[in-house]
Amino acid sequence: MAKQRVMYECMACGYESPKWLGRCPSCGAWNQMEEQIQHKENKSKSQVQVNLNQETHSQGAKRLSEITYEETNRVSTAFDEFDRVLGGGVVNGSLVLIGGDPGIGKSTLLLQVSMQLAQNKQRILYVSGEESLSQIKMRAERLDIQSDNFYLMAETDLAIIAREIESVRPDMVVIDSIQTMSVPDQTGVAGSVSQVRQATATLMRIAKDNQIAVFIVGHVTKEGNIAGPRMLEHMVDTVLYFEGEKHNRFRLLRAVKNRFGSTHEMGVFEMQDVGLQEVHNPSQLFLEERIENATGSSVVASLEGTRVILTEIQSLMTPTVFGNAKRTASGIDYQRVSLLLAVMEKHCGLLVQNQDAFFKTTGGVRIEEPAIDLAISMSIASSYWNRPIRVDDCFVGEIGLTGEIRRVSQIQERIKEADKLGFRRIFIPYSNADGLDLDVSIEIIPTKTIQDTIRYVFPKQ
Ligand code: TYD
Ligand code: MG
Repeated sequence: MAKQRVMYECMACGYESPKWLGRCPSCGAWNQMEEQIQHKENKSKSQVQVNLNQETHSQGAKRLSEITYEETNRVSTAFDEFDRVLGGGVVNGSLVLIGGDPGIGKSTLLLQVSMQLAQNKQRILYVSGEESLSQIKMRAERLDIQSDNFYLMAETDLAIIAREIESVRPDMVVIDSIQTMSVPDQTGVAGSVSQVRQATATLMRIAKDNQIAVFIVGHVTKEGNIAGPRMLEHMVDTVLYFEGEKHNRFRLLRAVKNRFGSTHEMGVFEMQDVGLQEVHNPSQLFLEERIENATGSSVVASLEGTRVILTEIQSLMTPTVFGNAKRTASGIDYQRVSLLLAVMEKHCGLLVQNQDAFFKTTGGVRIEEPAIDLAISMSIASSYWNRPIRVDDCFVGEIGLTGEIRRVSQIQERIKEADKLGFRRIFIPYSNADGLDLDVSIEIIPTKTIQDTIRYVFPKQ
């Protein structure tokens, strides 16, 4: 007889406890403990297996010199933006998790990628636990998808899916979504911590043993965690986030973890009637709605992975009508903006305590690198003094607490991109200017402090 025991598991982080707790001692989340009945016998062991190739099984330890080196085998998807985020294409035998809000376009993206690969003679198995075959077919027709290498299946039982993988022998499998999958003999309903964890582990084994690339879709909860438990991120090779604002047509694909490439890489797509289209030159799109002589607007040449993207940063400073000053920031870190406001109050003579202040980046991009400091502070100054910044100026530089402008990385790439997009002046940190030798027509202006830059950008009238 299988022994049963009741455990309580935190839905947010997977912490286990023998008794119910109001607050999880591990992650601090309230009211997340759920009852799970565990069968002692088959804990951690699952019956679901796929074996296309017996030889790949464990052969014991080997000396380093005995291991032959295989080039990572990558397949290009014909979607440059997607390939770049993955680090140069789909890696055979890798497990990739794509997270994002419901309705953002994860299924659409994976359908289109699958299609590209199927036309490239790859065999694809697309498993949906959320939509019926006819629903997917309808969508595929809208996306103009048709190929004999493309297999569809509506199923949520991993044991059945595993059998199908053995008979179809695909090069790539898409699981949409991990929250709908269930492993037989595992406790809990589909979507519970133990099911999601076990399903992911099973898929990992299928991917590694058979050199199949597996993509799993994960819905993000309100807290921003994939599938509730953060631990999913540790189990897979690559974690991508697909994000964007609901009312904005741009979608950004970011790598937050990648065993086969760099993180911080970003791909830009646009959602259209006929599916997702790649955006090869995002700067141009992000800047196309800028207006001349506007106050509170500046442009930064920021680095996203290996690519420079020029983005507009907007500030709006208005006197507070009553009560406390209101402050909001979207697309940039609020802490960073508060710090810059304090630096400018101290060193540049702005009085910001009684000012409401709002900040945003355009196009729904989120920029995190410190090199955006100078552009943020210039847009603040522009809005505060009501003086526009020249529309062909752009800025890079981190700002220190004494108002000094600090060195940033990859200055040459930033300058070249700004030059290419037709900007006439770029303000850069003084320490970055040493030994710069570039064949560009843009004027390069090195600055030492934030006060210097303000004097230069807003000359006395
Ligand atoms: P979907 O891929 O179903 O999102 P997810 O899998 O992340 O939940 O995307 C659904 C949204 O995308 C839906 O609101 C309609 C929109 N859409 C388009 O605008 N154009 C298209 O060609 C398709 C297929 C979807
Ligand atoms: Mg979907």
